[in-house]
Amino acid sequence: MASIPKGERDSFGSSIGVIAATAGSAVGLGNIWRFPYVAGENGGGAFLLIYLGFIMAIGFPVMLTEFTIGRRAQKNALGSFKKLAPGKPWYLIGLMGIVAAFLILAFYSTIAGWTLEYLFQAISDGFNGKSAVELKDSFESFQATPFRPVLWQLIFMFLTGYIVFSGVKNGIEKYTKVLMPILLLLIIIISIRSLSLEGAREGLNFLFKPDFSKITWGVVLDALGQAAFSLSIGMGTLITYGSYIKKTNNLSRTAFQVTAIDTFIAILAGIMIFPAVFAFGIDPAEGFGLVFIVLPNIFEQMVGGYYFAILFFILLAIAALTSTVSVLEVVVAYFSEELNLSRKKATIIGSVAISIVGIFATLSFGPLGKLQLLDKTIFAWFDYLSANILLPLGAIFIVLFVGWYLGKKNVIDELSNGGTLKLKMIGVFMFIIKFLAPIAITAVFIYGLGLI
Ligand code: TRP
Repeated sequence: MASIPKGERDSFGSSIGVIAATAGSAVGLGNIWRFPYVAGENGGGAFLLIYLGFIMAIGFPVMLTEFTIGRRAQKNALGSFKKLAPGKPWYLIGLMGIVAAFLILAFYSTIAGWTLEYLFQAISDGFNGKSAVELKDSFESFQATPFRPVLWQLIFMFLTGYIVFSGVKNGIEKYTKVLMPILLLLIIIISIRSLSLEGAREGLNFLFKPDFSKITWGVVLDALGQAAFSLSIGMGTLITYGSYIKKTNNLSRTAFQVTAIDTFIAILAGIMIFPAVFAFGIDPAEGFGLVFIVLPNIFEQMVGGYYFAILFFILLAIAALTSTVSVLEVVVAYFSEELNLSRKKATIIGSVAISIVGIFATLSFGPLGKLQLLDKTIFAWFDYLSANILLPLGAIFIVLFVGWYLGKKNVIDELSNGGTLKLKMIGVFMFIIKFLAPIAITAVFIYGLGLI
């Protein structure tokens, strides 16, 4: 591995690498675990439609906006604002992003840990011969125990720290390029099996036939939160990654491709999960455990299910890993550039601190389950606060910053690579980030939270 000369910043090597790493960040448990459970809780089809609307009208523009900030400033999520707006309070957006990173990684690593347990069970043939009810019971008793889930979580945090430690190009970029396409292929194969189950049609209807009577402002807010979470926007991950993107990269094209890949995989995950949900008589509003209860049922019924299960959970863990890495990178880039810690120290301090917070999230499925506020456990609060509150709030300020403070001239310069690329629809883009996105997010927010 070529080491990075002092004073120079690490960066992504190629444009394929940029897409792999950014799609690696976007595609993760958000698509395969969170999307189906949130869609299931919110009634399916109508939720999907609103979600897709948010992805196009808000998600993609915000992603592009974050890239613009990061590549322009060549700094971490907080330092970027300081550099582009010296002496102004805009850097507080970055600070909020660091807080969001802590919360997200704390609960995300709980679920990431579950994927390791399930990999372990898959290897030891733990799903074989079990009925749907037994599979549900075994999931519930596993998550409620204090020891194993925490152990897996810590192992996962260790792996995350290890990759971040190794740097951007030689760690993140190299592996995602190969592994993400395999994951996609596998999801397609499992979807086909799921679609051929008896009663699959009902699942497809649930996912694709919108029932507008199910829509409330709460559902709309959930869709917005899920869109932000899935695209990794609103907390500076893409500002940080943007700062590693070369000046010759076509940012608009990259953002478009990543958005498309992420959305495609979320929909496929829905096609994989919902037919099976109905075929096995599972409640689509089952919640956090949905995917872990449904998937083993499909494997149990598949020819070669034993092998598919193993491969699937390996890849799911990897998809999660390329996402956790991108969240930890936000914290580490901040610690090392702003607080002058070495990358090593920054990684260790960041991962240990987050792991400690994370243990509380994991234990809230067991011993700390009774600790609830307004019917939500610690885990549920971390999930809700980060996705539905901090990310949309971050997105509002990020677009306002670029739309009103950085301004059109800078945006055109950055997105056209100094005038070498032709920009289409820059007027539409500026309109979205100056007006549409901030107003729409604020409105969803106010109504979704029941503030009015
Ligand atoms: N998008 C990732 C997923 O879907 C999770 C993630 C990574 C994330 N970085 C983020 C979410 C930044 C919000 C903000 O699994």
